Amino acid sequence: MNKQKPTGQKTGMFRLGKSLSRSVLFFAPALLLAGCSPEEPMNWLFAGGDAAEQARELTVFVLVLAGIVLVGVEGLLFYAFFRFRRRGPARDLPPQVHGHAVIEVTWTLIPTVIVAAMAVPTVQTIFSLANPPEPNPLKVEVIGHQWWWEFRYPDIVPGRTITTANELRIPVGRTVLASVSSADVIHSFWVPRLAGAIDVIPGRQVNQVWFNAWAPGEYYGWCKEFCGTQHAQMRFRVIAMPQAEFEAWVRARLTPPPQPAGPAREGYELFGRFGCNGCHTIAGTPYQGRVGPDLTDIGGRRTVGAGVLPNDPEGKNLARWIKDPQAVKPGAKMPALGLSDEQVGAIVAYLQSLK
Ligand code: CUA
Repeated sequence: MNKQKPTGQKTGMFRLGKSLSRSVLFFAPALLLAGCSPEEPMNWLFAGGDAAEQARELTVFVLVLAGIVLVGVEGLLFYAFFRFRRRGPARDLPPQVHGHAVIEVTWTLIPTVIVAAMAVPTVQTIFSLANPPEPNPLKVEVIGHQWWWEFRYPDIVPGRTITTANELRIPVGRTVLASVSSADVIHSFWVPRLAGAIDVIPGRQVNQVWFNAWAPGEYYGWCKEFCGTQHAQMRFRVIAMPQAEFEAWVRARLTPPPQPAGPAREGYELFGRFGCNGCHTIAGTPYQGRVGPDLTDIGGRRTVGAGVLPNDPEGKNLARWIKDPQAVKPGAKMPALGLSDEQVGAIVAYLQSLK
């Protein structure tokens, strides 16, 4: 009886599908293009240093070649579809080209030339990226941890090492040679605007990658190898600064922190009483834990929890983190210690004083 209804529903569904697919067609490229902005701090298309530029040039070259191949092959295919489509009633098979010497040689030669054209710059780039271009690069040790990054500058001045976490400060223009290793599982160290990714492997192997930054700024990095629940929140930043600023930072790092006073004094004591020092080091104090991030310059860092929260000047996010790390970054190795708000406030005051 009611034969019209299903058809009506079908039309409605069809319309909905059509408008949905239209929105997707419209928004998907917009979203994709949004990731291409030069302001995007992880956009490898806008290289920020020599190593990334070499990788970018090679990648763009290969993409252009691949694009030409795509257009050529698909063009021939569609030409054949239309030029040789069946017209009228079925006839016998068209003339066969199997064993046609000219065609066989041509379609063997063309790919060989294309692969050779890609191989030459690829091998050149591999060799060029294998060794730092500067005989005396700034050496840093990068150690991956679930889920944060340790950065060490061995012998930055003879006999002294600086350790920091999640923010790697480098002088503009200087070649940096990073030796990467892991404290636990496999990670991958990647700063897209500065260098290609390098595997971070526990055990014996120490991999190396070099890079430099042309201009001061923040270059975002991310772990690029799945390494557990908080893999996606294993972030870091490379902060490139003018040489003089970098040297001032190094001097500040080599100076013991001032004696804490006022509310920071109480925070300093709570830090030891609640066992924060079991995991964390603060240089120049008896606190020398080696499990978690070194906190010697935590007050001067831009983020909390390996890039998860901005380190606001009032220390609100630092307090949130200390109060309950699991609420901010579930699975993080740092436990909530059941501190009162006053105790958290005192520890934040102490940590914020460490700059
Ligand atoms: Cu570390 Cu993914």
